[in-house]
Amino acid sequence: MEKRVVIDTDPGVDDALALLLAFRSPELQVEAITTVNGNVPLEQATKNAALLLDLVDPQPRPILARGSARPLRKGPITAQSVHGSDGLGELNRFKNPDGSPRYPHPQLPQNLPNATEVLLDLVRRYPDELSLITLGPLTNLAEALLADRKRMKRLQEVVIMGGAVGVPGNITPGAEFNIFVDPHAAQHVFQSGLPIKLVPLNVTEKVCLAPMQIEKLAQAMDKPLGKFLCDATSKAMEHMKQVRRMAAIPLHDPVALGVAIDPSIVKTTPLYIHVETQGDITEGMTLADLRPIRDDLKKPPNMHVALEVDAEQFLGFFQDRLCPRLW
Ligand code: RIB
Ligand code: CA
Repeated sequence: MEKRVVIDTDPGVDDALALLLAFRSPELQVEAITTVNGNVPLEQATKNAALLLDLVDPQPRPILARGSARPLRKGPITAQSVHGSDGLGELNRFKNPDGSPRYPHPQLPQNLPNATEVLLDLVRRYPDELSLITLGPLTNLAEALLADRKRMKRLQEVVIMGGAVGVPGNITPGAEFNIFVDPHAAQHVFQSGLPIKLVPLNVTEKVCLAPMQIEKLAQAMDKPLGKFLCDATSKAMEHMKQVRRMAAIPLHDPVALGVAIDPSIVKTTPLYIHVETQGDITEGMTLADLRPIRDDLKKPPNMHVALEVDAEQFLGFFQDRLCPRLW
């Protein structure tokens, strides 16, 4: 039985790898891709999603919907230093032998539907059987909850890539990027009562792809996608070497997407998590109540949090899906 999903994303290099995984996984029926401001501004995120849809050409083609251009209250911030100015490793560097662009800019139709409206409509059409996978800041989901909370409570599941539970953040010492960009949206979502499965840095930082693995995958994949894999990841790999002194890119979004396909990839724990929205240096922190005290003395859990991952199992799954014949 296919799982009907909507993928909310801010592509982003790791978002792109997650979308490749989604379209290579028969367990998922991707009903819609909704874009949000995050790694890159909204318009670029939407163009990147359209470029990926043109590259992969999934059948049937999911709806592409434009989401929020800015967080609920903060001004927009991006992560172009990590993902490149275009969000996909600066693909305009690459040319065909005849000098034409290897990745022509997709033309976005002006009348792309609105993400919140598409999400609400799909929940109405598929009550209790639609899953939402969020790979970027939670602005679109928060907007949908603000628009019609009762209807959004009919989501079957929400898998969220975000947060850092008792481990360092990646955009500030305490906060993970997706939560930090829109902490007010995240807090609203976390307190909503939705069936949330959180996939934080605790697990996603443990699953990395090294240059050799990328090379091996690229050689085994269909040529255009194999080239895209190398082209899109090269700048992020350089960034990791310069800033983190590690020659590997963490697969944040592919791990979260993978959890929606095979929950056994991670071990989860029910926890109460609060998002810090007031602190000047702690803004965006995801604070879990891990005190070793009686449960009745703590707030009841508001989500299931992935704290352990079988990284080898996931990497094998990821590689197998991207190029079945390689393994
Ligand atoms: O912190 C990692 C997350 O922030 C990933 O989703 C990445 O794509 C960025 O959106
Ligand atoms: Ca992302």
